[in-house]
Amino acid sequence: MRTHYCGHLNTSHLDQEVELCGWVHRRRDHGGVIFVDLRDREGLVQVVYDPDRPESFAVAEQIRSEYVLRVKGRVRHRPEGTVNPDMPTGAVEVLGLDLEVLNKAETPPIQLDDEDTSEELRLRYRYIDLRRPEMQQRIRLRARVTRELRRYLDEQGFLDIETPFLTKATPEGARDYLVPSRTHPGHFFALPQSPQLFKQLLMMSGMDRYYQIVRCFRDEDLRADRQPEFTQLDIETSFLDEDALMGLMEDMIRDVFAQVLDQSLPNPFPRITYADAVRRFGTDRPDLRVPLELVDLGDLMKDVEFKVFAGPANDPKGRIAALRLPKGCELTRKEIDEYTKFVGIYGARGLAYVKVNELAKGRDGLQSPILKFLPDAVIDSILQRTGAEDGDLVFFGADKAQVVNESLGALRVKLGEDRGLVEQGWKPLWVVDFPMFEWDDRDHRWVSLHHPFTSPKEEHLDLLESDPGACHSRAYDMVLNGTELGGGSIRIHRQEIQKRVFELLGISEEEAERKFGFLLTALKYGCPPHGGIAFGLDRLMMLLAGAASIREVIAFPKTQTAACPLTSAPSEVDAGQLRELSIQVRKSQD
Ligand code: AMO
Ligand code: AMP
Repeated sequence: MRTHYCGHLNTSHLDQEVELCGWVHRRRDHGGVIFVDLRDREGLVQVVYDPDRPESFAVAEQIRSEYVLRVKGRVRHRPEGTVNPDMPTGAVEVLGLDLEVLNKAETPPIQLDDEDTSEELRLRYRYIDLRRPEMQQRIRLRARVTRELRRYLDEQGFLDIETPFLTKATPEGARDYLVPSRTHPGHFFALPQSPQLFKQLLMMSGMDRYYQIVRCFRDEDLRADRQPEFTQLDIETSFLDEDALMGLMEDMIRDVFAQVLDQSLPNPFPRITYADAVRRFGTDRPDLRVPLELVDLGDLMKDVEFKVFAGPANDPKGRIAALRLPKGCELTRKEIDEYTKFVGIYGARGLAYVKVNELAKGRDGLQSPILKFLPDAVIDSILQRTGAEDGDLVFFGADKAQVVNESLGALRVKLGEDRGLVEQGWKPLWVVDFPMFEWDDRDHRWVSLHHPFTSPKEEHLDLLESDPGACHSRAYDMVLNGTELGGGSIRIHRQEIQKRVFELLGISEEEAERKFGFLLTALKYGCPPHGGIAFGLDRLMMLLAGAASIREVIAFPKTQTAACPLTSAPSEVDAGQLRELSIQVRKSQD
């Protein structure tokens, strides 16, 4: 039906007759001449209808926004003074010779150029929202990125293999989405939280190198970078150690950034241990673009009078840390109060600070509500350790380590943003040397920091039972600009170690058999050493597209409450369907 895409036309097409198909982006009636901005996937072009061709002019008078047209016309230079250098087709226009309305459109419920349309409305009419050039570019970028990833992995000998969606629960830490089985009344499939167990089985099958761009399902609390169904670039390899695998994976990411954004990422990516990441940045996914760091002060505070500090200093689970903000003396009382409220979100009960007006004046050059509680020697050490200079402000967090890490970690990023300290560019890193387990205070048991198939470090095997908290794993996370892009590990490939890990996690032999018996059995029949990783493709896309949320790079995402306003899913089903599934719905009390 057409000879060209609208967005492709330029001066190389001058005087050619072209046929175009597309949507009416805008129609302007300039008394005697009608301008139509015709839009297709590739862009916009201006089509002009004048009364010299009364038939098509009459049709042009009738058309409205979002009508679908087929246009025949001749490409010509735009008249002097009307060239639009901001538009790829801005040097030319199409003189309309013929015009066919392929379909009419009602007035659209959302304006394509309205920046303030609510997200709910955008999602309800997503097919219109996706017509916006910005969304078109994001969706196309996504296709480009998956193409590059596939090409790279194909060149490296990876096989694209599908794994089941109707399966058994895989423990990745979220709730499962369940699917009732009709043929097995009272039984349920779980949608996979990841293909973890199947990809390990594929290594036992000798596939050697596997990848899949695959949907994963997790019923968890949603945030800007989480969706109930999301896409992983999932990878598994045999006979590679962590160094080889990490090298290959960062090379792939470097390749994508070079191909797609023409940006070069560092080679190699820096590596930092989990312990260092938490100590310096309060988090295991630090944004290295922010040049602020936490500094430990606990050892200085053991004997001070100030209970707020002395308490955590003498608590093995406590932490006292400082965060120096260069030029922080500029902060007003009100701003400091707001930051105090901000850290409150993370459970901090206050935010002590010292303004360093003039170091040379000693105590008199400092301004702070807590100075009176601290002896000179302690103040000197604080200033020395934080490297404070005239004009700086030092914030303090004192509490359980987790509260201090989360609150100062978040404050660090917030200050970076508010104070214009975030450096340009891409700062990837690997976080390594994770603990195998975390103590769950509520349930009084050890839980896996990653998943229970992660291998402990060989040299820490002896700690599995004697000191689980000190046992480190062979896991690695890739972090980019404060987002956890991907995570993986070398896996357990020996049955007896897998059994010991289950045991430590409080998974009884009976339960292990019921849930993962197939894996334990498979481990007996020749399992190669193997390991892999999974990247959050939506998160990678969010970063590549410079979008604020992964919903902006998913064609049909869910809302924050895990619903789809377009299809109204989830929805009730009729009684007959439930009966077939042997399911009865219990009405909730309220
Ligand atoms: P993990 O649970 O760390 O590892 O997931 C891997 C990556 O997937 C992304 N991700 C998400 N993206 C959007 N919405 C979500 N709800 C969501 N949850 C996770 C993150 C994360 O880094 N099987 C292991 C991988 C392995 O060990 O090979 C796994 O799933 O970017
Ligand atoms: P207070 O003794 O409660 O008046 O607190 C004195 C100063 O210490 C105030 O600036 C508080 O914001 C700060 N503060 C109180 N609790 C903490 C805490 N847990 N961590 C850091 N600062 C705190």
